[in-house]
Formats: sequence, structure tokens, C-alpha cells
Amino acid sequence: MRPKSKNLPPVVRTIPVIGGLLKFLNGPVQMAREEYDRLGPVFTCKVLTRNITFLIGPEVSENFFKAPEAEMSQKEVYKFNVPTFGPDVVFAVDYPIRVEQYRFFMEALKVSRLKGYVDAMVEEAQEFTAKWGDEGEVDLKAELEHLIILTASRCLLGIEVRRHLFGEVSELIYDLDQGMVPISVLFPYLPIAVHRKRDKARKRLEEIFGGVIEKRKKSGVQENDMLQSFIDSKYKADGRPTTHSECTGLLIAALFGGQHTSSITSSWMGAYLMNKPSVLAQAQQEQLEMIKKHGEELNHDVICNMDYLARIMKETLRMHPPLVMLLRYAHKDFDVECNGKTYTVPKGHVTAVSPSVAGRLPLVYPNPDNFDPDRYIPGREEDKKAGAFSYIPFGGGRHGCLGETFAYMQIRTIYSVMLRNFEFELVGDFPEVEWNALVVGPKGPIKTKYRRRKLSQADVKTDLLPQSTL
Ligand code: HEM
Repeated sequence: MRPKSKNLPPVVRTIPVIGGLLKFLNGPVQMAREEYDRLGPVFTCKVLTRNITFLIGPEVSENFFKAPEAEMSQKEVYKFNVPTFGPDVVFAVDYPIRVEQYRFFMEALKVSRLKGYVDAMVEEAQEFTAKWGDEGEVDLKAELEHLIILTASRCLLGIEVRRHLFGEVSELIYDLDQGMVPISVLFPYLPIAVHRKRDKARKRLEEIFGGVIEKRKKSGVQENDMLQSFIDSKYKADGRPTTHSECTGLLIAALFGGQHTSSITSSWMGAYLMNKPSVLAQAQQEQLEMIKKHGEELNHDVICNMDYLARIMKETLRMHPPLVMLLRYAHKDFDVECNGKTYTVPKGHVTAVSPSVAGRLPLVYPNPDNFDPDRYIPGREEDKKAGAFSYIPFGGGRHGCLGETFAYMQIRTIYSVMLRNFEFELVGDFPEVEWNALVVGPKGPIKTKYRRRKLSQADVKTDLLPQSTL
């Protein structure tokens, strides 16, 4: 008997050979949106010799998020990061070691550590905004990018780097960043100038962190930061402690996971706050309520209570996830049920989900282009109603973001300090999206006028508040 033929997903129609590549390069998110409307939630795009199968929406993406590494792996699609992170961490190592290293991340980002990180974030945000003076105009995007790197340096890289080595380390990180150009995804070792600079920077960073680690070990000083947590980490398999190179690589991975993503998110969030007076009024009202309950102090527990600010951030990320496409490599055929049909996605396909497309599906999020932080309140919960993977700006399942709580604390801290001490006004139009980037954010500067003032009830436009908050 002949084996039953597989029902493959529909294929995106393009001109032969290079058509798929052109469509893909022209904008993978726009392509995925159009093909979703044309072909449904599961379809394949042929990009040169690769087949990329898209799984759009919660009804079809479960396998992507839940399948074990042996079936659906990250290594093949993300290994271009190896020269940046280093030869002995994350996508360079076998899965059991990677799992141990992810455990080190979890340990470094657990609540007991986050409490201390928030104190440092508050200090950084206050010190940074103190330099703004009483009024002026800034590019909010550039300012937030800087503030995010300062807070991340302090909490992740450590006080030594933040206080004494910040200039050199930021330049080296810049070189690492510049060493990640589109061609690096296909040819990460191509002998081009930006790659050579990247490799030099990686080497120098290891020397710098090696020095800091040795100093800490000799002095016996224990700091509360991610670096300390990595220094203290040991592999369960053989009890071995981490090396200098591993600590450096893990810190770089954390910065690459958290720097652009958080600074982009905080920029969009600022643009929405300035553009939506009723959202701003509620955010200010929440700050006043916190001050009434807890006094002026900002700490981990107070910030954890800022639900409305968290919902603004969540809604910002639904509309503008910085990571627009997540990828895996299928090591085995797998079946997907979709609209009463079963498709088999063959082994060897790259599979893709898109937080950008998933976040704007009208069946999951009614009125998807409308910024509405109340989508997530009890009773509505649009992020849960359609299934487990309806809300994916932080991914989900086996490889969900390990820095999510850190990012929520960092961005809420920054906005608490800003909302309590300044009023802001957007100069010019609401920003457009810069699609032409690996991590997608707002295009151009976000020109912003600010004026210092102490937040009081008089600043809150009460006619814009919902009845329940009055
Ligand atoms: C994974 C988004 C902040 C560390 C991920 C993934 C997404 C994501 C979508 C899953 C990638 C995939 O499935 O292929 C974000 C966003 C952030 C953010 C939107 C900020 C708004 C951070 C921060 C850190 C971090 C601050 C560290 C301090 C990580 C790590 C992983 C990860 C280590 C890998 C987890 C794994 O593969 O098991 N992030 N991230 N992220 N993120 Fe984040």
C-alpha cells in the first residue's frame, strides 16, 4: 500500500526562485499579514533554499511553543549570535548545558534579587532626570535608550562597570551591536570590518569582566547584581563553577535580550502616554494613589502595585512587540489542525510565529489598532480568552522571556519617576514604525517638551478618569 501523501501547508505564490526572498526582505511582517488574510493561519514561504512555515495565532502556534528542543529547536536559527555572545554559552552549547545556563538567569532575576535591583533603578532614574533641569526639549527615544543602559549596567553588569568602566564598556557593547548586520544572520563569520571589531570587543569585554571577577573573589565582596549571581553559579551536572568567558557571555546575552527590547518599549510607551490624555490621567492618578498609600518612596513592593502602568506597558507591547518574528527549526514532521484541516509541516522547515501579527488579530483583540490598556482587566482578559498563546511579545512556553519581570520593574520605575516629577508634551506627529531593523522600534526621534513639577491632584484631568478611579 502506498503511504498516505502529506497535506502540506499552502505555499505563498511568488515568482520562481527569488520571489520568496524578495517578498520576505520587503517586510516579513507585512508579508505574513497579507498571506494570513489570503491563505489562513498556516502557510509556507519559500526563501531561496529554505522553507519558512508561518503559524499565525493561538489556535496553531501551540506546537511551536511547547515542543521539546529535540523536535523544535532554537540553535539552528539563532546560532548567528555565537560570535557575539561567545563560544561557551547559550546557542553555542548543547541543550543540557543551555538549560543550566537558563537556570543561572532565573536565579539572577528572582524576586529577592529584583528588590535590590529596583532600589538601584530608582537611584539611576532620579540621578538621570535631575540633569534635565526645569524645562527643555529632548529626544525621548535617545534619553530612554541611555537610561535603560544605565539601569541595566548597574543591575546586571555591576557597580564597578557602572561607576568606573561605563565609557569603555558601552563603546565595546556598541561595537558588538554594530557587528550584527543583516548579512551576519547568514554568514556570522564573514571577514568584514564590523565582524572584526565585534570579535575584538568580545575579547576585551572578557578581559574587563575577568578583572572584575578576580577582584571580587580576592576581596570577598558580594554585590547584589547579575554578575555576582553568575560568578556564584555552579553546573549541577558536575559541580563546576562558571568561567570568566561564560560569565561574560551570559551578561552579553542578557544585555542583548533586554537592551533594545526595553528601550523600544519605553519609547513607544512615552509616545502613547503623551498622545492619549485619558491614559495619562489614569497613570497620574495611580501615582497619586501610591503616594497617598506609601508616601514618596519608590521600591519594589510599591512598583509591583502599579497595575495600570503595567497594563499600559502590556498594551504597548501588544501593539509594538520589538521582536516581530520568533523562529525554530523543525527536526521532525509535525501536524497542525487548522479550520477543520490537518497540515503536516515537514522536518527541515523553519517555523515562524509573529508577535506583531498575532497581537493584531481581530478575532483575538477586537479593534486591534486601538490602544486600550483595559483589555486585560478581569472580565475582559482578551490576552487569555482565545488560548494560551494569544499574547506573545515575550514569547511563551519552553522559551518564554526570562527577563519579563525585570523589564516590567525597570520600565515602571522609570515612568514612576518621570510622571511624578515632570509633565511632557509630544512635539510633532506620533512616530511611525522603523521596520527595517532586527529589533523593531519607532522611526526617528521622539521630540518631547518637558517641564518639571511635583505631581498633584490639580495635574490630573479628572473629566478623563473613569468613574471607578474617582
Ligand atoms: C527570550 C522578548 C526583556 C532575557 C525572549 C523571547 C522574547 C523576548 C519574545 C523569546 C524568544 C524566542 O522564543 O525565540 C523580550 C521583550 C523584553 C525582554 C519584549 C522587554 C520589553 C528581557 C530582559 C532580559 C531578557 C530585560 C534579561 C535581563 C531573555 C532571555 C531569553 C529571552 C535570557 C531566552 C529564554 C529562552 O530561550 O529560554 N525575550 N525580552 N529579556 N529573554 Fe527577553
